[in-house]
Amino acid sequence: MIQRFHYTELTSTNDYAKELIKHLPLIAVSADSQTNGRGRNNRTWEGETHKNLFLSIAINHKNYPTYKYPSRYQALGCLVVYNALVKYISKDGIKLKYPNDIYIFDRQYKKVSGILIEHSIQGKVAENTIIGVGLNINQDSFSDELSFKASSLKKIGLSVTIEDIYNDILLEFENLFTKREDYIYDLWVEKLNILNKSITLLSDNKSYLVKGINPDCSLTISDAQNNIKRIDNGDSIIYEL
Ligand code: BTN
Repeated sequence: MIQRFHYTELTSTNDYAKELIKHLPLIAVSADSQTNGRGRNNRTWEGETHKNLFLSIAINHKNYPTYKYPSRYQALGCLVVYNALVKYISKDGIKLKYPNDIYIFDRQYKKVSGILIEHSIQGKVAENTIIGVGLNINQDSFSDELSFKASSLKKIGLSVTIEDIYNDILLEFENLFTKREDYIYDLWVEKLNILNKSITLLSDNKSYLVKGINPDCSLTISDAQNNIKRIDNGDSIIYEL
């Protein structure tokens, strides 16, 4: 059973969860606002107070053995959010984007949720895993820079409370967390639907074809000259969802 903790303000729910989980088996830490919300690749994660979900689910591996491929927690994280949202949004209206973003259709596909997976490692052992979820719910405007790429549930006409979505997400987590990791991985591969797609890798601005999805959730991609590369969740890519 997941233990729930809620705060009015935290620097980052991931940071706080990382401390709390040292003494507990399985927790959910949420906050009304974050002062130092973090995204992947050292980016910041922002969202208005009381309008969005800032949630971290933390797993202590003393109690719950780690996945054989810890990178698959990213698959678990985005499937949890995806499953919680398909209750409200048609399947065409919601897509996964590699590695673990959720996009919704708001005139074009725009990001509604991002997942930040962190592990506390001791030696070679992952002591715990933090699945950080940022989800835009009732925010109705975004900065000029973000307005073309970010959306919220409210912006597509959904009227839901943060509490409802929070409960849906924890319910989905409790369900998917009981499943085998291969099941989670296979489901993620299916929903991701990226195989054989053309992508642009932002680090070199070149086009590649996705040749394979590897068991550790990395992608094998090849360029026009058939040069093969492996990319993972440290890389940013764009492609048609
Ligand atoms: C991304 O898309 O870059 C991932 C964003 C993850 C944001 C969430 S909000 C809750 C948790 N606490 C953080 O500081 N980050 C994650």
